[in-house]
Amino acid sequence: MTMFVRTPEEKVLRDPVHGYIHVQDEVIWKCINTRWFQRMRRIHQLGGAFMVYHTADHTRFAHSLGVYEIVRRMITEVPDLREALNEREKMTVMLAGLLHDIGHGPFSHAFEQVSNISHEYYTCKIIEEDPEISGILESAAEGLAKEVADVIRHKHPNTILTQIVSAQLDADRMDYLLRDAYFTGTTYGEYDLARLLRTLRVSGDRIVIKESGVYAVENYIMARYHMYWQVYYHPVARSYENLVNKLFLRLKDLMDEGKTADGAELFLPVLQGRELTLEEYYPLDEYACTYTFSLLEKAEDPILRDLSYRVLNRHLFAYRANTRGNIRSVKAALKRAGFDPRYYLVTDTVGQAPYVPYRGDSGKVIWIRTHNGDVRELSKASGLVASLVKGPKLSDDRIFYPAEIE
Ligand code: NI
Repeated sequence: MTMFVRTPEEKVLRDPVHGYIHVQDEVIWKCINTRWFQRMRRIHQLGGAFMVYHTADHTRFAHSLGVYEIVRRMITEVPDLREALNEREKMTVMLAGLLHDIGHGPFSHAFEQVSNISHEYYTCKIIEEDPEISGILESAAEGLAKEVADVIRHKHPNTILTQIVSAQLDADRMDYLLRDAYFTGTTYGEYDLARLLRTLRVSGDRIVIKESGVYAVENYIMARYHMYWQVYYHPVARSYENLVNKLFLRLKDLMDEGKTADGAELFLPVLQGRELTLEEYYPLDEYACTYTFSLLEKAEDPILRDLSYRVLNRHLFAYRANTRGNIRSVKAALKRAGFDPRYYLVTDTVGQAPYVPYRGDSGKVIWIRTHNGDVRELSKASGLVASLVKGPKLSDDRIFYPAEIE
């Protein structure tokens, strides 16, 4: 049996969502103090939403601590989980929660589109290959680094661990909904975490919710649904992300033409579209990007100069519904004003179903255990969710363009 070294006394970190984050294990504390973990202080949790909600500039660092704390509470406060998992599995799942976002790049979506970088890939690479982090994990228990990465890539043989960190009702979502609601000030993202944890059970290889917790689950589904439409898919947030994306596109086009933009050397390896070494990836955080954008405000290339100015000063694109008529008139106006549509016209669709009762993958649905012991998929146990599933899948299809052509 693997034993882990405890910290001499419990460390507590104040957190507005959870009150305190409790750290009792040396290996957790050491991981928090690594340079890759600290780098997450320099990466925002929300892409463009802080351009809508001005206090939503919380970071991946705070979210990662919050996910860890929810996992820690699950495995200590939920009796079924406390009994189902051994010490090593408990440590593995706490570490997976803590480190699940460590490979995120700056401006997540815009950046991933240009670079083909998947943050999950880098997350596992950092856990298994960064000498500092893999060193901490391996000296705590041989083979631990791979086991933690296996939870994140859904390959761990004990699927309960993956369900705790990333499924439909998981610590990752539980933290980001509450945290994003708190920092945006949107109370409809709140739900009853304490009640969910109290009604959580294990049934075979599945995490289930007791029937009496079904209202807390409905509340959670509604919170998620509202947060998607009011925060994550807010058109102004998308406008900002689209602008950052166009800025990277312009840089990439210039590089492909053999031109260089002074000050943008940091981005060259990314723009080449190749896999980066961890040492090339590490300095790419939002502080470095913002500094680079400020240099590019003085670039020789007028498009780069203009897009950098827009990103830094919230001079965002305007938007309309994506209809043929709107595209035609915006294209004509762009032409009259001398804007290249490659950089100044974006079509962007987002869609989200409140809850999808996927079949075949037990980790992707929410299970309710009735009082007589039957386990049912959520939409079979909740009238509210059943009617949401039957309703239309909403989507929002828009075009974005410079406001001054209107
Ligand atoms: Ni996350």
